Amino acid sequence: MDTFVIRGGNRLHGTLTVNGSKNAALKAFAAALLTSQPVRLSNVPEVEDVARIIEMLRKLGVVVRRLRQGTYSVIARHIEHGNLDPDTAKRIRASIVLTGPLLARTGAVSFPYPGGCVIGKRPIDVFEAGYRAFGARLHERKGMFHVAAKRLIGTTFFFGTVSVTGTETLMMTAVLAEGTTVLKNCACEPDVEELSKFLNACGAKISGAGSPTITIHGVRRLSGGSYSVMPDRIEAGTFLILAAATGNRLTVDRCIPGHLDSVLDVLRKMGVRFRAQKNSLTVIPPKRLTAVSVKTREYPGFPTDLQAPVCVLQTQAEGRSLIHETIYEGRLYWTEELKRMGADVRLFDPHRLEIQGPTALRGRDIESPDIRAGMAFIIAALCTRGTSTINDAYQIDRGYERIEERLKAVGASIRRVRN
Ligand code: EPU
Repeated sequence: MDTFVIRGGNRLHGTLTVNGSKNAALKAFAAALLTSQPVRLSNVPEVEDVARIIEMLRKLGVVVRRLRQGTYSVIARHIEHGNLDPDTAKRIRASIVLTGPLLARTGAVSFPYPGGCVIGKRPIDVFEAGYRAFGARLHERKGMFHVAAKRLIGTTFFFGTVSVTGTETLMMTAVLAEGTTVLKNCACEPDVEELSKFLNACGAKISGAGSPTITIHGVRRLSGGSYSVMPDRIEAGTFLILAAATGNRLTVDRCIPGHLDSVLDVLRKMGVRFRAQKNSLTVIPPKRLTAVSVKTREYPGFPTDLQAPVCVLQTQAEGRSLIHETIYEGRLYWTEELKRMGADVRLFDPHRLEIQGPTALRGRDIESPDIRAGMAFIIAALCTRGTSTINDAYQIDRGYERIEERLKAVGASIRRVRN
């Protein structure tokens, strides 16, 4: 496992460019399964989770070619079977989004309980109920789920829990189902709307994506198409927070400011100012940050994926703040390690954390538990005056492409040690 060695305290300056969205790219690869014709995907971030999805597609007989950095051709002309490779599928949660399109194309899928970040229970009951609503049969044996349907019939389905991958997966399942599907209480993340636009460009009939109710009129087949992955709003938010936490004026380029309203709102309340252009934001940090409490919510609320970075930011702000993590029940435990760096944090229960700031953080040897907490540790390490070692760089590589090179380019002292 690679390790990052970071020496904090450098002045950072310049521009950080935002890559394509990891989570949107993963769903675009899944969508390519819905058509037998070629699909071309560009602005794909070269991150480990994308590599895992590609591995899984290839094991299904799908031809995936890397045309150049960030551009892929995917041809799912013949799908050999609907069995997801259990070893890879267990490693990333997004493996489950393959199951809807696969079911629609092959009539039968099997998959293990999907893995991913250790951030909470992450059940799949929404998917099970959804597939049943389309008329599929489902059973579990020896840790594998088996879903089968000769025909998928359009349905009306209410999401008891708002789920991003659930919404995307059932939306994709409905595209080739017979008749009309109405999905209610859907996730409204921009990722969902993007996916619907791509599918519609390939001939799907989806309306309402990005709102709580999505209507899908089933079609017999989709054509091929091309899609350039939208900028990653989580990566953009991470970079904005990094600039604010380290007190540096940095420009975050190739982002969509309209996707970052909740993040900009919190940062502004903390005293950060921005110079905004169409696709870029320059962070103008204040002399002193003011503590502001944050509650994670579904979009357009404050994203759970930025909870860890913003917590590091709170340690640098003056006063007491609370973080209320409402999406996951296991996503605050990483702060135990942050405490070892000197943070004054107190966990009230699995959902609520108190932070007292500002604190001078100390360099440490830290384990990276998941993508976002790993990135938060990088920010924390950059805030210190010492040296930190972040083990298990793979976790960060899952979601952030060549992060050390990009941070080095703005003046950070960070290097990768290959073990
Ligand atoms: N949930 C259920 N049952 C289900 C599905 C979800 O109870 O069948 C619960 C989850 O346990 C969680 C809540 O619903 O408490 C919301 O989870 P959601 O399904 O929306 O999460 P997800 O779709 O699995 C995606 C992102 C996550 C991001 C969440 C929330 C992908 C591949 N992953 O996960 O991203 O945290 O939405 O925005 O799109 C990351 O990129 O680091 C990451 C974890």
